Amino acid sequence: MPLSIELSRDVPPAVDAVVVAVTAEGLDTDPGLPRGFLAAQGFEAKVDQAVVWTGGEGPAVIYVGVGAAGALGPAAIRRAAAAGVRAAGRRAWIALRLLEVVEPSARPPAAQALAEGASLAVYRFERFKSEPGPPSVQRVTVTGGGGKRVGSALELGARIADGVALARDLVNTPGGELTPRLLAEAAVEVAEAANLRVTVMDEDDIAEAGLGGLLGVNRGSAQPPRFIELCYEPARPRGVLAWVGKGITFDAGGLSLKTSEGMMTMKNDMAGAAAVIGAFSVLPAVGPRCRVVGYVPATDNMTGGDATRPGDVLKIRNGTTVEVLNTDAEGRLILADALSLATEAAPDAIVDLATLTGAVEVALGSRIAGLMGNHPGWLDQVTAAAERAGERVWRLPLPDDYRPWLDSDVADLRNIAKVKGAGTIIAGLFLQRFVGEGIPWAHLDIAGTAWWGEAPEGEFSRGGTGWGVRTLVELARTFRRPS
Ligand code: BES
Ligand code: MN
Ligand code: ZN
Repeated sequence: MPLSIELSRDVPPAVDAVVVAVTAEGLDTDPGLPRGFLAAQGFEAKVDQAVVWTGGEGPAVIYVGVGAAGALGPAAIRRAAAAGVRAAGRRAWIALRLLEVVEPSARPPAAQALAEGASLAVYRFERFKSEPGPPSVQRVTVTGGGGKRVGSALELGARIADGVALARDLVNTPGGELTPRLLAEAAVEVAEAANLRVTVMDEDDIAEAGLGGLLGVNRGSAQPPRFIELCYEPARPRGVLAWVGKGITFDAGGLSLKTSEGMMTMKNDMAGAAAVIGAFSVLPAVGPRCRVVGYVPATDNMTGGDATRPGDVLKIRNGTTVEVLNTDAEGRLILADALSLATEAAPDAIVDLATLTGAVEVALGSRIAGLMGNHPGWLDQVTAAAERAGERVWRLPLPDDYRPWLDSDVADLRNIAKVKGAGTIIAGLFLQRFVGEGIPWAHLDIAGTAWWGEAPEGEFSRGGTGWGVRTLVELARTFRRPS
């Protein structure tokens, strides 16, 4: 159930619990804290720490740590809101006294982060559960006042969290259910609800358009492919931003078959597509000034009797031929078509999101996405947007002298490198071949960040994370044509 969030000056007396932010400094100096109790609980006001105190009169008090007061940004407030909501357990109505520790001028972005953290902490995917789990917090009253700017920031955060939840739902839906057809239907539904333009190419349209990468990956599948295009059009657009998302609805690896272990989370291989669709779903509420166009190639990667064989050559939309030596390096093949199409529309900048390489998780783990691209200014813009959105990225190079490793003996390119190592970079170099000269482009490899496999923590629960929705929305909101 979606969380209802409201703003109030004071704590309503009827709430079931009050969540109070504690800074490291406050822990030492605030005379109102039950210091003995907190010390006995090992509470040190660190981020993610939350303890429930029922020793007073009135509602329970949940103390959540936010770390040092000096280092306090939206990220700490997002985590604190999530920790508070989780610690509240089955209490239905809670007050969040978190904004008090934030300087008044910094409260709007903190309020947005608060709403995101609180909403995402109650996210669950229960579609296939016969019995729903125990109820969680349903209503949050944010105290401290703060006026209109804080109110609309809360609203914005709640809407963005809706987009993230949609992306999570799409990722969490099993690959046998969320076929390319269904993914396209979901995109059409979003477009209708949000008043966006949408077109869906079916298999014939895709063949007609010469999307040889998408067709080649689809060849082993019983499910037809789809190519989805979305468009958000503001009144007098300032600039055009293109989003591209990898939409492999299930990645078995094709004939270069994955292991059973390696396949277990592969319904997650459309997380880039999910981020794009999730972000589009909230664009009208966010109201950016730029036009946003979205490109989502969708297919699964299966092993049918006529599947693409290692050694086969595919012809991508832009005419480049690719020798497929490993059918499990399929994401780059469908993205090649999508980047070619995006290039034809001559946008001011492109960003793609893809669960592209296992190597990025080896390098950066599951909390930091890999960022590559062809334009330093655009990469700075993406980095800054991700930082403000509370999603972490780290840049990797695309060195020229690695390029020849993708040379093929029989075609223009091969889809895997001749040498070992640098798997994430090699995939980035491959994609770069399909981006038009002079178009600023950024590639986010989200293979590590799109999925959370551990116990619930902060705004994450097990399964799809919806990674990228927040960054995409922030990027559109603040888009400047890269110079
Ligand atoms: N979808 C996978 C990448 C992936 C791995 C995503 C783990 C999420 C978690 C991608 O299609 C793939 O199989 N990549 C190969 C590339 C290799 C064959 C060059 C990989 O990373 O092993
Ligand atoms: Mn693969
Ligand atoms: Zn894949």
